[in-house]
Amino acid sequence: MDIKDMAIGVFDSGLGGLSAVRELMKVLPFENIVYFGDTGRVPYGNRSRDTIIKYAQQDVNFLLKHNVKMIIAACGTVSSVATGLADTLEVPFTGVVNPTAYAAAKATKNGKIGVIGTTATINSHSYKKKINEINPDLQIFEKDCPLFVPLVENGFTDPDDIIVKSVVEHYTGEFIEKDVDTVILGCTHYPLLSCAIQRVLGENVTLIDSGCATALHTADLLKKKGLAQAKEVTGEYKFFVSDTPDNFEKMAGMFLGCDIHRKVTQIDIEEY
Ligand code: DGL
Repeated sequence: MDIKDMAIGVFDSGLGGLSAVRELMKVLPFENIVYFGDTGRVPYGNRSRDTIIKYAQQDVNFLLKHNVKMIIAACGTVSSVATGLADTLEVPFTGVVNPTAYAAAKATKNGKIGVIGTTATINSHSYKKKINEINPDLQIFEKDCPLFVPLVENGFTDPDDIIVKSVVEHYTGEFIEKDVDTVILGCTHYPLLSCAIQRVLGENVTLIDSGCATALHTADLLKKKGLAQAKEVTGEYKFFVSDTPDNFEKMAGMFLGCDIHRKVTQIDIEEY
């Protein structure tokens, strides 16, 4: 098989990585995608470093069995903690931290950036470190939001929902006093809450979607490496999860705006 015809492998702990897939479908409509959501072990963000690294390695092993030409860790937690992953791979790899940090550094006007992510991501200071490497003058305010992933995985994303509203206010309200003009959605689950977050922070704050920034970076990378699909045939998408596909199918279909009914297969990730 021509390497250009091979799929892009994308993984996350659950639904979050679909924020990257949604953008990949727009910017690279001819690419095939194999997605793995580790729904049986979500969330990753409050686990130990060793566990996150072990899970990430198994996710990668699973995708490699599908003969992918590139791997995207569409997960802020894995990208922040399993930083040695890229060195173990023979295929191109990207996490979400670097592309997102560049996008935020470019977007801010007043130099004040808020970062929200899982506890593991925020404790690693991955986004802050990268942004300050790009521009040491930028001021970074970090906040972990451990209830966001369970909200999203359980379908609580409606900005009018009182539970959603209060949790979002609880975590992000402090950014208003800090006068940040840009906020990084440092966990790929958070774009599913972007309406609710935007409503709390106001329209003048720019939200940087880590999934989206990473998809744009992927398009560049494939082009540079001569791996981009050359045929203009709509891409094929395969989805795998490590728990029952029911909820994933429903939420993913809504989020991606396409019917993925019967396209989701359950696998046993412990075999990888
Ligand atoms: N979507 C993930 C992230 O970007 C994982 C969150 C979790 O499982 O806690 O961090």
